[in-house]
Amino acid sequence: MNSFPVKIPNWIGAQEQPTERDEWFDKLNPANGKFLCKAARSRQADVERAVALAKKAQPAWADTPAVQRGLILHKIVTEMQKRQSEIAAIVAAETGKSMKEALGETGGAIQCGLFYASEGQRLYGRTTTSGAANKYAMTIRQPIGVAGLIIAANTPIANVAWKVFPALICGNAAVLKAAEDTPATVWIFAQIAKEAGLPDGVLSVVQGFGEEAGAPLVAHADVDVISFTGSTDVGRVINRVAAERFARISLELGGKNPLVVCDDADLENAAKWVLLSAFSNAGQRCASTSRVIIFEAIYEKFRDLLAEKTQRLKVGTADDCDLGAVINEGQLLNMLAAVEKAEQNGATILCGGKRLTDAEHKDGYYMAPTLIENVNPHDEISECELFGPVALLFKAKDFEQALQMANDTPYGLTASIHTRSIHRAVRFYDKVQTGVAVVNAGTHGSEPHMPFGGRKLSGNGSREPGTEALDVYSELKDVYVNIDPMQV
Ligand code: NAI
Ligand code: MG
Repeated sequence: MNSFPVKIPNWIGAQEQPTERDEWFDKLNPANGKFLCKAARSRQADVERAVALAKKAQPAWADTPAVQRGLILHKIVTEMQKRQSEIAAIVAAETGKSMKEALGETGGAIQCGLFYASEGQRLYGRTTTSGAANKYAMTIRQPIGVAGLIIAANTPIANVAWKVFPALICGNAAVLKAAEDTPATVWIFAQIAKEAGLPDGVLSVVQGFGEEAGAPLVAHADVDVISFTGSTDVGRVINRVAAERFARISLELGGKNPLVVCDDADLENAAKWVLLSAFSNAGQRCASTSRVIIFEAIYEKFRDLLAEKTQRLKVGTADDCDLGAVINEGQLLNMLAAVEKAEQNGATILCGGKRLTDAEHKDGYYMAPTLIENVNPHDEISECELFGPVALLFKAKDFEQALQMANDTPYGLTASIHTRSIHRAVRFYDKVQTGVAVVNAGTHGSEPHMPFGGRKLSGNGSREPGTEALDVYSELKDVYVNIDPMQV
C-alpha cells in the first residue's frame, strides 16, 4: 500500500509534530512481523503541550453553537466516507486484519460520527415542573472542559469515533492517546479532522506507550474527563489516579462473555454466531464470546458441529479469510502460554491451541482458532480475558445452571442466549448480569446509537456511545427561573 506513512508524528493543536525529545518507536506489521512504520514516542512534555492547547481552544469551541459544531463533525464524517477505503487500508495494514473487516469497521465509525454530528441539533436537557408558583425548572447540558481519551488497538477507527465524536459534540476539546499498536489510524483521523475545519487545538493526538504518554494524561490536573477503553488492570489504575482529583471517569474494560446454547436452539445459527463472536477480528473484542455454555443434552452434538466448522476457518488477511493476525507477538505468546497451562491442568484442546507456523503464516502473529473443553469454571483460563481467538466450552444441565454459570465470572460485559423459547430468552436477558444481552445472535455487534458498557470488572457503570455518552461528556446544570407576575 503506498499511502502508509513511514513516520507518524503527533498532531498537536492541528500541527504534525515530533516529540520534544524526537524519540520514535517501531511499529511492526502483525501480518508478517516486518517493520511497518515509526511512531512518535510521547512523554509528559508532549502531553502537556497538547493539554495546554486544548485548554486554550476549548472555550471558543464551547461557545460555537452545538449545531455548528455538528456541521463541522459532519464534514469530518463526509470526508471519512470519501476516504473510507484509504482509512480501511491503514486499519488493515496496522492490525493484520482483512480489508473486508477493516471496511466494515470504518463503516461503523462513520455511522457513529453521523449519529453525533446530528446530536448538535438536540443535546436535550429537560424542562419540567416546579413545586412553586412562578418558578420554572429545566436542565441544560454544558461542556466539561478537556477530555483525555485513551483507546485500545483492536478496532482502531471505531474506537476513535466512539470517543472523539461525543466528546467534541458536547463542546469539549480532546487529547486522544492512540494505542501504540495502531498509530496510523489515529493519525489519519486527525488529518481528516483538520481538513474538515476543526479549529486548532480542539483535537490533539499523542502517540506512544501507556505509561509514558497515557499516564501523564490521566494525571493531568487540566484534564476534566477521562474516557478509557482497555484492560481492566489499566482501568483500575486510571480509576484511582483520576478519582483523586474528582475527574469524570468512563471505563470500558474487558469481558469474558458467555454464549448459552439451549437444547431447543437452532444449532446451525448458534454455531455461526459462536464462530463470529469468538474468532472474527481474531477474537480481539471486549465483546467476543469466550465461554460457550452448552446444555448437556446437546453438548456432544454441538461441540462436534463447532469443532468441524472451526477447523474449516481460514486464517489470513485476504477477504475470504475468517480471521487475521493478533495485534502483536507479546499478545500471541501470552495466549499460547495460557493455553499450554490449561492443557497441563487437564484441559482438552479440541482445535487449534497453536501458533500457525506454515510458510504463509510463520512470520506473522497468527493463532489458530482454538476451542477448549474440560476446564473448571474457576480455572485461570476461565476467568481471565485472553483477547484472542480462544473459546472454552462448558456443560450445563439446564437453564438455571447455564444462567448461574453465565453470571459466575468477575466480568459483566455482554452475553447471548440461543433458544426458541420466549420464556428462556426473556428470563435470560432479565437475569444476566451484563451491560448487553443478546437473543439468538453473537455477544458482539453493538450499534453506535446504543449505550454500551459493562458491570463488575467490565466498567464503572458509564455507557458509551448512544445518547448516554452525552452524560459522560457533559455537565448537567439545573436552571430555575423565577418571575414576578406583578411586573409583567
Ligand atoms: P491496555 O489496557 O493494555 O491498553 C489500552 C490503552 O491504554 C492503550 O492505549 C495503552 O497505551 C494505554 N495504557 C496502558 N497503560 C496505561 C497507563 N498506565 N495509563 C494510561 N494509559 C495506559 O489494553 P490492551 O491490552 O491493549 O487492549 C485490550 C483490552 O481492551 C481488553 O481488555 C479489552 O477487553 C479492552 N477493550 C474494551 C472495550 C470496551 O468497550 N469495553 C473495547 C475494546 C477493548
Ligand atoms: Mg495491554
